[in-house]
Amino acid sequence: MNPKTPSQSLAILTDIVLPSETNPIGNMFGGELLARMDRAASISARRHSMRIVATVSVNHVDFNKMIPLGSVVTIEAKVSRAFKSSMEIYLDVWIEDRESGVRSKSNEAIYTFVAVDETGRPVSVPELVPETKLEKLRFEGALRRKQLSLVLAGKMKPGEASELKALFIED
Ligand SMILES: CC(C)(COP(=O)(O)OP(=O)(O)OC[C@H]1O[C@@H](n2cnc3c(N)ncnc32)[C@H](O)[C@@H]1OP(=O)(O)O)[C@@H](O)C(=O)NCCC(=O)NCCS
Repeated sequence: MNPKTPSQSLAILTDIVLPSETNPIGNMFGGELLARMDRAASISARRHSMRIVATVSVNHVDFNKMIPLGSVVTIEAKVSRAFKSSMEIYLDVWIEDRESGVRSKSNEAIYTFVAVDETGRPVSVPELVPETKLEKLRFEGALRRKQLSLVLAGKMKPGEASELKALFIED
């Protein structure tokens, strides 16, 4: 399999916030944003792997800003690192000002997807080669985030998370 770059998996999802997607004070439900991000991330993972993909973990979500009714929300998703069958997807979420059209960042999130065959078994994905400074930074942090996610899910012993431990323990 030929290696791929993050830009080859870019998925951009732009949509408006409708009344049924808001809470009683008129801001977007967190769950609605999670679902939209899951959709964008799945398209990105599919573009990278060209396989069926499934969400295996939602690793990190920051809800930094309220997103009011009527906002235009744009989600940009890209694969930040590919492992054997799993891919980390980094999402940047923007809202745009109605009058000026200026975009501001509302939040970031990290999801993990696994490529599977028709029977649901994990299959290998192409390697990812980061290009920009930000892509390289996200790529470098992805292994320790994977280890943290596996430890939290009870799928890895903390003692085996070498990359993660290095964050806390100096030589
Ligand atoms: C995704 C799935 C096929 C993985 O199967 P599995 O038997 O756990 O396979 P593995 O243990 O080999 O894990 C596959 C990969 O996922 C990674 N993974 C598993 N759990 C993870 C977690 N919590 N966080 C990060 N990565 C994880 C593994 O490290 C492995 O990565 P690698 O192959 O790149 O090294 C299986 O867990 C599944 O079907 N889950 C349900 C998916 C789904 O329906 N999602 C939508 C929910 S509504």
